[in-house]
Amino acid sequence: MYVLGIETSCDETSAAVVEDGRSVLSNVVTSSLAIHKKYGGVIPEIAFRKQLETIAQVTDCAIKEAGIRLKDIKLVSVTSGPGLLGSLLVGISFAKGLSLSLKVPLLGVDHIYSHIYANFLNCSGVKMPFVALVISGGHTSLFNIKDFARIKVLGSTQDDACGEAFDKVARILQLGYPGGPLIERLSKKGNPRSIRFSCSNTEKPLNFSFSGIKTAVLYYVKKNCDLQKKRASNAEFEASSTADIAASFQEAVIDTLIKKSLLACKFKKVKRLVVGGGVAANNKLRGIFHQETAKAGIKCYFPPIALCMDNAAMVAGLGYQLFKRGDVSDLGLAAQLD
Ligand code: KG4
Ligand code: ZN
Repeated sequence: MYVLGIETSCDETSAAVVEDGRSVLSNVVTSSLAIHKKYGGVIPEIAFRKQLETIAQVTDCAIKEAGIRLKDIKLVSVTSGPGLLGSLLVGISFAKGLSLSLKVPLLGVDHIYSHIYANFLNCSGVKMPFVALVISGGHTSLFNIKDFARIKVLGSTQDDACGEAFDKVARILQLGYPGGPLIERLSKKGNPRSIRFSCSNTEKPLNFSFSGIKTAVLYYVKKNCDLQKKRASNAEFEASSTADIAASFQEAVIDTLIKKSLLACKFKKVKRLVVGGGVAANNKLRGIFHQETAKAGIKCYFPPIALCMDNAAMVAGLGYQLFKRGDVSDLGLAAQLD
């Protein structure tokens, strides 16, 4: 069964064809990120206008790359939220139009759950039940998953999302946007133990808090290195101290993520941990997670790096599984903002 996935929750416009929920036949992703970069964050107005311009062409490409015809599609699965309202509406409206014209069912799926499903594409062999950690630009949550119809939230962020913290710290360090990959790259040149940053404790042990560490970085920078002045006078010193800040921040964030993930596995007596979302593309994080879960006798899974970012293959895959269980949406499908 060929499922067409459509994903437009943020700055990406993506369409994919997935066969039987597993085999990715095509996964076309375009992004308006280059335009947003100069503003230091995604501008919703620009994002959805670009998505309106590109969605038909991106879908066409996905169908062609899959080597099928549009009439072979048996289900249209679309991200219905959470995300930016205008962006979601572009994808949902387009998917409704396709479902009507092709006379095939429509299904709206949750963006966060589809990040988890990225681990099931291309026969990864993950078995249920498992604990899932989703770390993206908009969300940070732990789930207990028995199957995709029975998902229980174990904890989530009380303030900033994990990716958002990377983006904000990158901004403080004047690195650019999006911050995650830039912090990861710079951290390789820094000493992760040079500054003792840590994430705030939370009353509920499986919740997260990242706004305190972001503020700690801000005060550290204000107190210790006036970046503008140092840049002008001592470029070498500035480069190494910024790398130390980036590496120490990244280390503290990874530390809290792995500790809480292991705690969730312990609470739920589960020996499988599945990670997804944009921050899961971080290689340092992947390494530490593999190392620490192995010590605890837990199997840890990550999607391939390309499937950590927003993409429509995960939307098509999850849509297939939920449709098989009887889920279907009607033309009243609305955007879910959170
Ligand atoms: O899942 P995603 O593509 O979009 C959302 O659903 O939000 O995640 C985007 C987030 C951004 O905050 C970005 O800075 C972060 O993922 N990110 C990373 C890395 N690559 C992307 N964070 C840390 N290390 C990375 N290598
Ligand atoms: Zn995402």
